[in-house]
Amino acid sequence: MTKGNDSLANGREHAGDQSTLDDREFRRCLGQFATGVTIITASHEGIDVGVTANSFSALSLEPPLVLWSLKRSSRSFEIFRRSSHFAVHVLSVDQIALSQRFASSEADKFRGLSRGIGVSGSPIINGVSATIECTVESRVDGGDHELLIGRVRKFCRYEREPLVFVQGRYAVAADHPMLGETEQWAANSPDACLDELAPLFKLIFRSHYLIANGFEEQRRAEGLNISQNYVLFGLADNPRITSEELTARVFLPRTVADDAVADLVAGGDALRDEIGRLVLTTKGLTRREVIRDRWKGYERNYLAEFSQSRVDEVRRFLVELISRFGRPKQPS
Ligand SMILES: Cc1cc2nc3c(=O)[nH]c(=O)nc-3n(C[C@H](O)[C@H](O)[C@H](O)COP(=O)(O)O)c2cc1C
Repeated sequence: MTKGNDSLANGREHAGDQSTLDDREFRRCLGQFATGVTIITASHEGIDVGVTANSFSALSLEPPLVLWSLKRSSRSFEIFRRSSHFAVHVLSVDQIALSQRFASSEADKFRGLSRGIGVSGSPIINGVSATIECTVESRVDGGDHELLIGRVRKFCRYEREPLVFVQGRYAVAADHPMLGETEQWAANSPDACLDELAPLFKLIFRSHYLIANGFEEQRRAEGLNISQNYVLFGLADNPRITSEELTARVFLPRTVADDAVADLVAGGDALRDEIGRLVLTTKGLTRREVIRDRWKGYERNYLAEFSQSRVDEVRRFLVELISRFGRPKQPS
């Protein structure tokens, strides 16, 4: 492993090598690679298992092969080891809760789920954006994981948007705001799409992108990354909760939430009480207020040039528009 080149990367460098491998930093580095999210199920002698996995990947078209890797320390490792088959479920955007459930230590992950049986006997979960049923072709040693290669026996694609996972967080796939635009756009001109005839939704989407990107700088100025920000707000709203409860509330994978908590505890923003529950310190609460104030100031700064009546009109319009789309669907 070599150190990254800052001038090429054009960003702050976080590097490591074999001798000083920092687990967290290595995970964060790998997290720059965006993936989908799958739940992979199997069954052996009447025992059904399932784990959330983003190591899934296509391997070969001819013959049709896929692969994924399973942590040796997983409770379901032995069942996967004995099962001759597995089924990959590519999760859809409204299945974050399901992803969290199959990544947890819950005793019965299938509780309350209607499940079918696949061609080779693996449990099949509904509401996903694709299923790929396989028989195990081979297993390869992969350090603390085992690599499973599967031969595809059956696949199904559904008209549902797939869930995305990147930088330790769940995300949605959206067209890049520059996609399909003119050369002017490629030259990074922020005004290129601002003509009277630009579709309104496109303008809303573009605004969202610019607003979110602009705030990232503010968050960084406070020394927080977005996961620490979620955890900070999650703890402020739900004092004295366990790591498990926090993970469920902020919809971050356990390792990512644990990393963020460890950073906040090390920085004196949070602490664990005598029975291990998490709570923000006065410093953490103040920091949350500072972020809130930054949001308010950031908004004020951008809206200063507009009259209050125009701002209020846009606000009313957006509230009405959002309510027309109905309340967001609850994760299944
Ligand atoms: C988004 C995401 C992706 C994950 N990817 C994998 C993976 O590819 N392989 C793996 O072994 N664990 C992965 N995990 C962790 C497992 O889902 C987690 O360890 C789970 O508890 C294992 O279940 P078990 O102990 O009941 O077998 C992932 C977790 C999340 C949230």
